[in-house]
Amino acid sequence: MKNIKSRELVSYNMTDKTGFVVTPWEVSGKIDYNNLIKQFGTVRINDVLIKRIEKHTGPAHFMLRRGMFFSHRDLNWLLDKYEKKEKFYLYTGRGPSGRMHLGHLMPFVFTKWLQDKFKAKLVIQMTDDEKFMFRQDLELEQTTNQALSDALDIIALGFKPKNTEILIDTFYSKTLYNNAIRVAKKITFSTIKAVFGFNNSTNIGSIFYTSFQAVPAFLESVRQGKNVPCLIPHGIDQDPHFRVSRDVMPKLGYYKPAAIHNVLMPGLKEGGKMSSSDPSSAIYTTDSAKEVKKKIGSAFSGGRDTVKEHREKGGNPDVDMSYQLLNFLFEPDDKKLKEIYESYKNGDMLSGELKAIAIEKVNSYLANHQKERVKAKKVLEKFLLRD
Ligand code: TRP
Repeated sequence: MKNIKSRELVSYNMTDKTGFVVTPWEVSGKIDYNNLIKQFGTVRINDVLIKRIEKHTGPAHFMLRRGMFFSHRDLNWLLDKYEKKEKFYLYTGRGPSGRMHLGHLMPFVFTKWLQDKFKAKLVIQMTDDEKFMFRQDLELEQTTNQALSDALDIIALGFKPKNTEILIDTFYSKTLYNNAIRVAKKITFSTIKAVFGFNNSTNIGSIFYTSFQAVPAFLESVRQGKNVPCLIPHGIDQDPHFRVSRDVMPKLGYYKPAAIHNVLMPGLKEGGKMSSSDPSSAIYTTDSAKEVKKKIGSAFSGGRDTVKEHREKGGNPDVDMSYQLLNFLFEPDDKKLKEIYESYKNGDMLSGELKAIAIEKVNSYLANHQKERVKAKKVLEKFLLRD
């Protein structure tokens, strides 16, 4: 146990050795998630842990069963507390740098499930400050407006203001700043350099930023005046921020937050993830039915070049993006998903047929989502924290 500290703070820029990069601001190459678990020092979620969760939730969410949430920190500790009647709250977030796509919805869908099953309060941080400071091409007004727009997508998933708070950094800056300085005082520049690979030309806002992302992980403890356990569902790319935060929080007298990590949703093209900066790789929450049809129509397929060859040799669902859409979000029924898998793999189902299923599912989901998104405008203000 002695070495935990130095291992948790290990630098994670793995470009040279592994051919892929996962950092909070860059994800590229074919990600090896086993390798990430090793490099980051997190723990894989196994069946024993899923069973333990199911004792409290009933049948696990399909994203847990299918390994989209694949890794964690201190989940057993969190459940120990929960079983001793110490309730936890949830904290997650979103960096408003561009239009929201399906890959961005994924962790929020799962967070909603956790919230419902554990009856937990949820804090959602929207980091308009972060995206302004990290992205040379974005003005503050743009990232703040994007945060307001993204909040509608999040609310559209069914969150309620009675147990959900949305905290846009620049709207809640007094509380955040007054707590962030306590974190910042415990982090040295050399730690930040080692973890994030920053150098002397990095702007000082970026260097300070991690202390802002840390605050919601103990905010509830500040408010209640006693330690409240916290669980953070987040994309594994955010782990460096929380590795640093976890190191600091006991020094301020708070629990380390537990975390549950998701993989990044693959993009529509071969390799890589859904990316807001590449419209053809992603389906946005506000895309029209026509756009969805076109995007899935030209998405990467695991089919063969000719129908004859496909019938003979079968397709490859594992690399097929239409199949992956069903797997990641749109076919919660394992049995139905398996039927599609088998039938595509043995050549009965053609790529066109698989695409048609995906188009239908995505479009009926988005039709409803877009309706809810409009309704969300009326209640938005009830979710927002201001000080
Ligand atoms: N930095 C995150 C991003 O760029 C946003 C964020 C803030 C976040 N707090 C979080 C994400 C907590 C997950 C959990 O997207």
